[in-house]
Amino acid sequence: MSAPPAILQPAMDRAFAGLTQARDAFAPQLSPREVGVVTNVSTGIATVSGLPNVGFEELIRFPSGLLGIAFNLDQDEIGVVLLGDYQHLQAGDEVERTGRVMDVAVGDALLGRVVDPLGNPLDGKGAIGAEKRLPVERPAPHIMDRAPVTVPLQTGLMAVDALIPIGRGQRELILGDRQTGKTAIAIDTILNQRGQNVVCVYCAIGQRASAVAKAVANLEKEGAMEYTVAVVVEGNDAPGLVYVTPYAATSIAEYFMEKGRDVLIVYDDLIQHARAYRELSLLLRRPPGREAFPGDIFYIHSRMLERSTHLSKDRGGGSLTALPIIETEAQDISAYIPTNLISITDGQIYLSPTLFELGILPAIDVGKSVSRVGGAAQRAAYRAVAGNLKLAYSQFEELETFAKFGTRLDDATRKTIDHGQRIRACLKQPESQPVSMVEQIAVLLALSADLFDEVPLEKMTGAEQSLRKAATGIPVDVVERLTTAGKLSDDDRKAILDVATKALASFQPQAQPKPAAKPAVKPRSMSAS
Ligand SMILES: Nc1ncnc2c1ncn2[C@@H]1O[C@H](COP(=O)(O)OP(=O)(O)OP(=O)(O)O)[C@@H](O)[C@H]1O
Ligand SMILES: [Mg+2]
Repeated sequence: MSAPPAILQPAMDRAFAGLTQARDAFAPQLSPREVGVVTNVSTGIATVSGLPNVGFEELIRFPSGLLGIAFNLDQDEIGVVLLGDYQHLQAGDEVERTGRVMDVAVGDALLGRVVDPLGNPLDGKGAIGAEKRLPVERPAPHIMDRAPVTVPLQTGLMAVDALIPIGRGQRELILGDRQTGKTAIAIDTILNQRGQNVVCVYCAIGQRASAVAKAVANLEKEGAMEYTVAVVVEGNDAPGLVYVTPYAATSIAEYFMEKGRDVLIVYDDLIQHARAYRELSLLLRRPPGREAFPGDIFYIHSRMLERSTHLSKDRGGGSLTALPIIETEAQDISAYIPTNLISITDGQIYLSPTLFELGILPAIDVGKSVSRVGGAAQRAAYRAVAGNLKLAYSQFEELETFAKFGTRLDDATRKTIDHGQRIRACLKQPESQPVSMVEQIAVLLALSADLFDEVPLEKMTGAEQSLRKAATGIPVDVVERLTTAGKLSDDDRKAILDVATKALASFQPQAQPKPAAKPAVKPRSMSAS
């Protein structure tokens, strides 16, 4: 073979020089990979040995992609909480560190979707192209980054908005026995956020699948899924998955809050979360405390609820309002978990099974419910009537018990009872029918001006409906002043009462025509004839 033409020589030299350079630059890097071995598998828990450098809450990868969180770090072994189906795991399986903590996909793409805490869609609408991932455990905003609660979060439920007002950034506990309408209050609040520029996150923890399906279908039907994300974990999922769900949902909500949006998150319900955590702790052989819950159960709930707040202007001014739900047993609100949550939150709405049975829905027990910060955020028009209303209502509730015994009542007592019955009739509200603020104020003002007092009880529903319909006739400028903060001026009050008086005129009993003067009857003589 002849020598290569001189023209090829420099090209070949250049190519070889490049290769030589690359070869010289290559230094083989040994990357150590810690591999451990599963020594024991129990319900939702695995013990692993041989991962000496693993960090607390680090994710561990098991065969077939199953993940777990390193929870107990002991000298020889670590206890791992499994995040999914673990039937295939066996002692001797190899595990690997991942070097990261658990995170969740967040972003606008999640709106309208139903996902599990790992971000997998459950609604069959295809993959979710999330913007970024956030760790599920994040520190709560610092004190200096927080602002006072100043804007109301209207629930559309008259009993709540008037008597137990909730502000954006507040945490209000909803508690009551099973089947008392807890979920209904939360879902109604989500429905009422339509057009209010509030993003909602509904986090269903260990609920019956049928109950979750009903809630999501309801949201879908009313067009509320557009601004809502549902994060769902079922009761038969691994307890580890149940445990991380509310944290993951909070991170999803925080993404929107940090963008300056107002966000509402519903945790339905936290007793299931506490039970899952108790199960994990007992399996990990942590010492049980009161009601067999581990000692740090208070901390795990407060850590989560402290993330709900109203951020200061410098941090974008967003807010995260939390409505945690707790199911009580036999109306015992002083059980361990309910008292914990009552002390962590800024108030509670208590639902009474007795009221529920009487058909007084929503079954809110006004006496046992309170809102500790919402009053400051309440619209001025509510404040003008709410004080009297609460007082009149509690007086009525006290007297009502007496009236049941058929005691003969004096006029003042009868009047208090009649007024109270009308307040109760107005506060009754069917499910999924939020009432707008203007309608609420028209009804409340009419109540406080005693306009309903003469209306017969059986006509109350009709009277209220007619007044609410008439509320659309309230002048636009008055409505505008109602929706902005400020005082309810006398003129505005009069304008609203005029509308109310007209609307209720046909429900008032007709003025009785005066009876014709009867001929005087001669009194019978008492004396014996
Ligand atoms: N305001 C209302 N008007 C009429 N029905 C209502 C109202 N609120 C709730 N309900 C009905 O009461 C039942 C129980 O409501 P819901 O499921 O919200 O209660 P819950 O306390 O969340 O129950 P669970 O303990 O099972 O979670 C449902 O059938 C619901 O439709
Ligand atoms: Mg429920």
